[in-house]
Amino acid sequence: MPVNLRGRSLDSLLNFTTDEVNYLINLSLDLKKSKYQGLQPAFRPLVGKNIAILFQKDSTRTRCSFEVAASDLGAGVTYLGPSGSNFGKKESIEDTAKVLGRFYDGIEFRGFAQSDVDALVKYSGVPVWNGLTDAEHPTQIIADYMTMKEKLGDLKGKKVVFVGDYKNNMGYSVMIGAAFTGMNVVLCGPKKYKDQMDKKVIDKCQKLFKENGGSLEFSDDKIKAAKNADVIYTDVWVSLGEPFELFDQRIGELKDFQVDMKMMKAAKESVIFMHCLPAFHDDHTSFSKEVAQTLGKKYPIVKNGEIEVTDEVFQSLYNKAFDQAENRMHSIKAIILATIGY
Ligand code: CP
Ligand code: NVA
Repeated sequence: MPVNLRGRSLDSLLNFTTDEVNYLINLSLDLKKSKYQGLQPAFRPLVGKNIAILFQKDSTRTRCSFEVAASDLGAGVTYLGPSGSNFGKKESIEDTAKVLGRFYDGIEFRGFAQSDVDALVKYSGVPVWNGLTDAEHPTQIIADYMTMKEKLGDLKGKKVVFVGDYKNNMGYSVMIGAAFTGMNVVLCGPKKYKDQMDKKVIDKCQKLFKENGGSLEFSDDKIKAAKNADVIYTDVWVSLGEPFELFDQRIGELKDFQVDMKMMKAAKESVIFMHCLPAFHDDHTSFSKEVAQTLGKKYPIVKNGEIEVTDEVFQSLYNKAFDQAENRMHSIKAIILATIGY
């Protein structure tokens, strides 16, 4: 069946079919190749289109990816940040959606509740792209599985371990990506996190694993989980929108789940390390410096500002996080083109 995504929103990846997800991954790889071949300037298929990008939380990669991708394709972009518009404060999401839908051909939204994405879809009448909510980060996942495909080739039957705060948006998203690509995923972290997960999402993924191959497992032992892994993936332990004070509790819960060389060496020799970024791997950020100063004595693993991953792993050749970051732009270009292209 040919894939046609025109007019569609990327609200949740789970609203897509396996063919549609693979189509986006392959289109991302094609667009990356054409940019590398210097063909991009001749390819501006979205001249005359405009997109709005709405951020209730800060961003580097997602914002820049939408801006550069839209510019490459010839489309105009308006950025609305966490402050500086009436969105969600003086004006409801419904009313904002109705206004923006009259100006723009597509809307990116980064925020908290998935229901806000649903409201934008319902009331704007144009494709909406989820640029991260508390539930999911679907544009990140297209880039991540594109990166895995570049590095590992065929993904079916390969093993990805997500270690750390797996009950958060990236844990779900990595699991969803594995279910679409037929990979074996291990969610590794404290046992109690499993009970905090949304059973409906797990059930949907289990159905996809039945169709596509692959499997889901949980582990609370990072060394056992790493055995035979092709990918070790982690994310911050305290996410955007969560208070700084949570670091104490989370480091207490996750101190046995820091990605270190011991974990990497327990995996396949060819294993790669992935991280959606931003990462706390040294004390060169104000947050990680403060964590080191205030919690380093209590939790020696964070005394140098290394939190979810050690600097040794981050600076090593295992680390593919910057390829992932670049691929955000190519994959977001694919998502925009596929959904609002002529
Ligand atoms: N990975 C990611 O979404 O990065 P930003 O928060 O910088 O957009
Ligand atoms: N879990 C992180 C992902 C950042 C890309 C957050 O929500 O902040």
